[in-house]
Amino acid sequence: MDAIARKLISRRATAPLAGSVTVPGDKSISHRALMFGALAVGETRIAGLLTGEDVLRTAAAMRALGAEVSRDADGTWRVAGRGIGGLVEPDDVLDMGNSGTAARLLCGILASHPIFAVMTGDGSLRRRPMRRVIDPLTACGARFGAREGGRLPLAMEGARDALPLEYRVPVPSAQVKSACLLCGLNAPGITRIKEPEATRDHSENMLRHFGATVRVTADGRARVIELSGQPELRAADVVVPGDPSSAAFLVAAALLVPGSRLTIAGVGLNETRCGFYATLAEMGADIVTTNQRVQGGEPVGDLVVTAGPLRGVEVPWERAPWMIDEYPILAVIAAHASGTTRMRGLKELRVKESDRVAATAALLAVNGARVEVDGDDLIVHGGGRLVLGVATAEPVTVDDAGFIDTSFPGFVALMNEVGAGLAPA
Ligand code: S3P
Repeated sequence: MDAIARKLISRRATAPLAGSVTVPGDKSISHRALMFGALAVGETRIAGLLTGEDVLRTAAAMRALGAEVSRDADGTWRVAGRGIGGLVEPDDVLDMGNSGTAARLLCGILASHPIFAVMTGDGSLRRRPMRRVIDPLTACGARFGAREGGRLPLAMEGARDALPLEYRVPVPSAQVKSACLLCGLNAPGITRIKEPEATRDHSENMLRHFGATVRVTADGRARVIELSGQPELRAADVVVPGDPSSAAFLVAAALLVPGSRLTIAGVGLNETRCGFYATLAEMGADIVTTNQRVQGGEPVGDLVVTAGPLRGVEVPWERAPWMIDEYPILAVIAAHASGTTRMRGLKELRVKESDRVAATAALLAVNGARVEVDGDDLIVHGGGRLVLGVATAEPVTVDDAGFIDTSFPGFVALMNEVGAGLAPA
């Protein structure tokens, strides 16, 4: 579904931000919880599922493939699974909306199910590269037909007797890794995936949580993940942690509005998602983690954020997989910091929902920040007067805020609850 234009205006916050809030559930974990629930035997209950557009597309797809997916009045989701290999042919096109994660992971699941399916998405998703999953998945015996350049819509026929994959993922991508692992669930023997850099490991954690055997070995910066095929996945309850990528926006606001002190409770702290927080620590941010615990195989804690001065830093290219979705908001923070921030090696950001390097540079430039793109590096010169959001000197108007709902429903209300001044324009 393409977004409806909705104009929003953000003014400088007139008082410190304060309070204790929670953010919606982690998007990566939400997609996976629905998918694993559909592949398990029995009923999986999911608390804290993100109900943004992207995840609702996954819920609809799993329903179309024969799983029963419902939502209780208290917000708990229930998935009655079909067991590995038990999904049924969908009788219509699967529309994954704006979600690359949903599309790619689902390709992995379907590749080892002997059924025919057609998949599409919105204008942005139809432009994104799918070859990165089509190529490895073809090796299990699945057949794909796609538009030129491997773009959606695509038609696929999953393998009847899938072979286990042995694949070295050429780009650091949790989506590609996860697609290959999901395919391996319905293939006999060991599926062995090597990734050049460790990427988010929610699939590995959730596979274990549902009873699969997964072995991970480190080889320098690389990881080798081995999955034993055709396990009996048992339904398992999932409590979805708050999304650290969503929390990043509240953290940014709290750091930048003088005098603020904000607690964001129950945020996922998986280290493969914490590159943004490591960078902020290097910039001098005052963020304390309390109440650390493990929830459904994932570490969780509360973040206490106190505003203060920040300095520019160099963000090494190796960190990119661990903060891939947080560069745009880091760039905004960097525009308010003293000195220059150089973010290295952002090649993968160019194939997201938009070219995020170009989009971030344009966003900052139009709001008066000094920014440069040097190859795949983004350079932000801090200390400008007219920058963004709640710390802006002048009001900032957002032309189309409709896309916020795909990932962060309730964003505007939550920001205003802690003291930001966001209003319809
Ligand atoms: C995701 C992986 C990342 C990330 C995306 C979610 C996932 O994409 O940017 O928002 O849930 O596996 P890539 O794997 O394509 O880098």
